[in-house]
Amino acid sequence: MSDTPKDLHVPKGLEDVVVGTSSITFLDGLKGRMLYKGYDAVAMAGQVSFEEIVYLLWEGDLPTRAQLQPFSKSLADNRALPAEVLAVMEKFPKHCHPMDVLREGVTLLAMVASDAHDGSQKDNREKALRLVARMGTFAAAWDRIRKGLPVIPPDPTLSHSANFIYMVTGKKPDPLSVEAMDMYLSLLADHDLNASTFTARVIISTLSDMHSAIAGALGALKGPLHGGANEKAMEMFLEIGDPAQVDSWVEKALQEKRKIMGFGHRVYKVEDPRSVPLRAMAHRLSVEKGDTRWYNISIKVAEAVQRHKNIYTNVDFYSASVLYLLGIPIDLFTTVFAAGRVAGWCAHVFEQLADNRLIRPRTDYTGPTDRVFKPLAQR
Ligand code: ACO
Repeated sequence: MSDTPKDLHVPKGLEDVVVGTSSITFLDGLKGRMLYKGYDAVAMAGQVSFEEIVYLLWEGDLPTRAQLQPFSKSLADNRALPAEVLAVMEKFPKHCHPMDVLREGVTLLAMVASDAHDGSQKDNREKALRLVARMGTFAAAWDRIRKGLPVIPPDPTLSHSANFIYMVTGKKPDPLSVEAMDMYLSLLADHDLNASTFTARVIISTLSDMHSAIAGALGALKGPLHGGANEKAMEMFLEIGDPAQVDSWVEKALQEKRKIMGFGHRVYKVEDPRSVPLRAMAHRLSVEKGDTRWYNISIKVAEAVQRHKNIYTNVDFYSASVLYLLGIPIDLFTTVFAAGRVAGWCAHVFEQLADNRLIRPRTDYTGPTDRVFKPLAQR
């Protein structure tokens, strides 16, 4: 009965289905490689600032010093949230999850922005800049508001990463903490057509607006199978509590067929390449901050899972202890992921609009086709 081709077989979850072209991020799931605009993203991690990576994803090449300075300044100048938005956030119930606040916050930004519905390329760039600049401010401000503390205004003299840690913790961070946050945000900035990026592209393909695309992407990122896994991984480490408990905890979890958060990946059939620098950073931070418990537990969990199943750690596994050691509250972890990924979402919105066609696939209909209608009185 359907007019879709009968031999059309689309794998569940669209696994390995190629639905378009992109020149932003290249992934090799068998070799564990990840390139931003042709540069090895993992090799760059720890040597570049997040601002440089945003510039690379949007402009196509790494900035010179002369290009980076005004770009970083524009980001720093746009960090503060409009007073109307902060006033509404003050009224949110204090139990709201930070990802819900972030999603609603982006929607509020659209409502107070006079250019929210202007879809010109120039305006989209400006909106993207403001969204990247403010994503961390939302998370930090909400953490203070819900605790009844005054919001810490952004400090434009600090880098993007340093300022974010400062707004959450109230303390100017040490150089290793800034390096760790730059590494984290840079490695998370883009990742091909993951669920949230696909969502952003679908939304913008209708010629909706930038804020709607980013709000939709935030909804997709929140789920524990995607960006929400970093929070769940840290909760797991806390539940295990002691390296001596790891083996029995993992055995029981696998016997109960529970998913171990921070393991497995749709694309990578080997270790997620982002795990490697994040594991090293988790170790450095643990030593520097004198708290190696979470690192030791995570290493033992990785070994124990590997003994039972052929699955590897993904980006969320070691980033959990990195963010924890930076003093980020656990339920803020996914908002920090969003603060990095928003750069990629915006890059994909630009790319989609540059050669747009409505994204509108089909389903293979499997329901009935010949039912006879009876009016309500006869049912
Ligand atoms: N723990 C235990 N077993 C797992 C895990 C895991 N974390 N991940 C995959 N497997 C097993 C599955 O049980 C399945 O085994 P089976 O064939 O014996 O039934 C096999 O590996 C394939 O798993 P699928 O869930 O079918 O793989 P899919 O590609 O659909 O899912 C996903 C990928 C969602 C990431 C999955 O690995 C998972 O749920 N991981 C835990 C959540 C997580 O860490 N998400 C973050 C992903 S990275 C990111 O989005 C930033």
